[in-house]
Amino acid sequence: MTQETPRPAPGALDVRRVRTHHLREAKRRDEKFTMLTCYDALTAAIFDAAGVDSLLVGDSAGNNVLGHSSTLPVTVDELLPMCRAVSGAVERAFVVVDLPFGSYEASPEQAVATAVRFLKEGGAHAVKLEGGAWFAPHVRAMVQAGVPVVAHIGFTPQSEHALGGYRVQGRGDAARKLAEDARALEAAGAFCLVMEMVPAEAAAAVDAALEIPTVGIGAGPATTGQVLVWQDMLGLRRGRMPRFVRQYADLHGVVSDAVGRYVEDVRSGAFPAPEHGF
Ligand code: KIV
Repeated sequence: MTQETPRPAPGALDVRRVRTHHLREAKRRDEKFTMLTCYDALTAAIFDAAGVDSLLVGDSAGNNVLGHSSTLPVTVDELLPMCRAVSGAVERAFVVVDLPFGSYEASPEQAVATAVRFLKEGGAHAVKLEGGAWFAPHVRAMVQAGVPVVAHIGFTPQSEHALGGYRVQGRGDAARKLAEDARALEAAGAFCLVMEMVPAEAAAAVDAALEIPTVGIGAGPATTGQVLVWQDMLGLRRGRMPRFVRQYADLHGVVSDAVGRYVEDVRSGAFPAPEHGF
């Protein structure tokens, strides 16, 4: 008699195409999921094939693609083609796009109009907005319009100046306010919540208070998902790294070395060689 090897039950994310309900299900089943920022088709295809569950076309494109020192100058017209490139390149990953600063705050109507553009023209599967309970009406209006919404609390880079710089949020008494914001955004219909630069304990308390999955960046291990900016985690960017980043590669080193050899080869005449000609 042959004995069958027991197979683990398929996970919530063991799917051909990740949808909002798979992310919700992951939390229910206590499974983790991954999110990485992404701004172009080639990296989107690599991350998708490597099994990243969700790609965020973040307004961190301001720092990592467009050369700004913050996310504030990023516009809808700049983010739309990046969003289209990413959503067109993935087969499995769930694509979320940031609503840029100034494109949603004025009214729920403005938020719906911008979000609809990202789904219609950019091919996004969901939008993300930064801010607390005061944006509940905006979230509700987008959800009613059929747009899945990810909320983002804690340190919110678009409010860098209002928050007095890059500072951990939700310390001490502020943890209660963080949880209130999270609950209001969940009640308004957000299906997922990002927490950035929040003490691990406060983030765990928020996660425990919600039914929807949370995604952390500098928020400890209790969230269902984790998100990082890809240029940070793959070491393309040099310089001071946030403490919450783990670097999995040194792409800056790999690229500088390869480009240096190319420059030498062209200067010395070693490239192109006979095999490169027609
Ligand atoms: O734009 C971005 O990259 C983000 C992440 C930091 C969550 O919002």
